[in-house]
Amino acid sequence: MRHWPKKVRIKEVGPRDGLQNETNWVHTGDKVAWINMLSESGVKEIEYSSFVHPNWVPALSDAREVGKRINRNPNVRYSALVPNRKGLEHALEAGIDGASVFMSASESHNKNNINKSITATYPILKEVIHEAKATGKHVTGYVSTVFDCPYEGKISPEQVLCVCDKLYALGVDDLSLGDTIGTAVPSQVEELLETMLAYYPQEKIIMHYHNTRGMAIANIMTSMEYGVTRFDSSVGGLGGCPYAPGAAGNVATNDVLYLMHGLGINTGIDENKLKKAGFFIQNKLGKQLPSNSLAYAASQA
Ligand code: HMG
Ligand code: MG
Repeated sequence: MRHWPKKVRIKEVGPRDGLQNETNWVHTGDKVAWINMLSESGVKEIEYSSFVHPNWVPALSDAREVGKRINRNPNVRYSALVPNRKGLEHALEAGIDGASVFMSASESHNKNNINKSITATYPILKEVIHEAKATGKHVTGYVSTVFDCPYEGKISPEQVLCVCDKLYALGVDDLSLGDTIGTAVPSQVEELLETMLAYYPQEKIIMHYHNTRGMAIANIMTSMEYGVTRFDSSVGGLGGCPYAPGAAGNVATNDVLYLMHGLGINTGIDENKLKKAGFFIQNKLGKQLPSNSLAYAASQA
């Protein structure tokens, strides 16, 4: 019998990663109401929006208004994606507890996503990390394309480690490793975690799986076998990177909760409240979301 962790920490990224790829505009008031529902679910961290250039991600161009209008639950860390100094200024004005800086392990995805080479990205993120830390914010460093890049193919664990080491030296508190296009299978997870965990303690590592090929749950199980207990997920399985062709949604929080609770692992999150939040955003978007648990719940209603 395998031994699973007693508890895991889930970051809800639906309002950011989930909505960023949507062409249907969700009204600001609906985003606020939805984030408020998530805030009351027991989740400990919500990535509520993104302070990138509005032309690059129009779906989240109301980030400042969302940040100013949401109710703040003192038990929740409210974080947002921040690409540069201007983004940080806007994020601080709107209110954040955490800044998520981001870049890619592969040169071409980095260039396509943030319009810079990897080398040119470090000084920009250095400024953001230092300023965010100086104002007492938690900083997570996202590294994308840690398994495969949509432009370059396979990415080596050493390449990922190199970017992580740079970000860590710049002062990030933890590292979120992104399977941006959802291609990884468990053997790739093993290979990467064997490299990463030789240098970083498990509690510094967050796994961020997209579920393009339905492998995310298997990859989460493998990650837990390596002692990783922190995962990003998105209500209903919404999501995807607009600058990574073929990227589908994040693993659905609803499905992750079903797995964790079934295994007897504490998440602190109320499955029923997450289900309601899933139906809410599904109705606003006017389409069925990919979560199997949500689809099952709808069939029983
Ligand atoms: P750029 O064009 O190189 O920016 O874009 P720039 O610094 O040259 O500035 C150009 C103009 O944009 C200037 O205005 C700036 O002020 C303005 P001007 O002087 O010409 O009037 N500007 C901004 N305006 C508002 N907010 C800002 C901002 N920054 C500059 N923050 C930039 C560079 C990074 C801004 C752009 O490429 C961008 O916004 N990219 C974001 C792409 C994105 O959001 N991708 C999805 C998120 S990443 C992801 O999903 C992966 C993840 O989930 C993990 C995984 O799954 O792997 C995290
Ligand atoms: Mg993502």
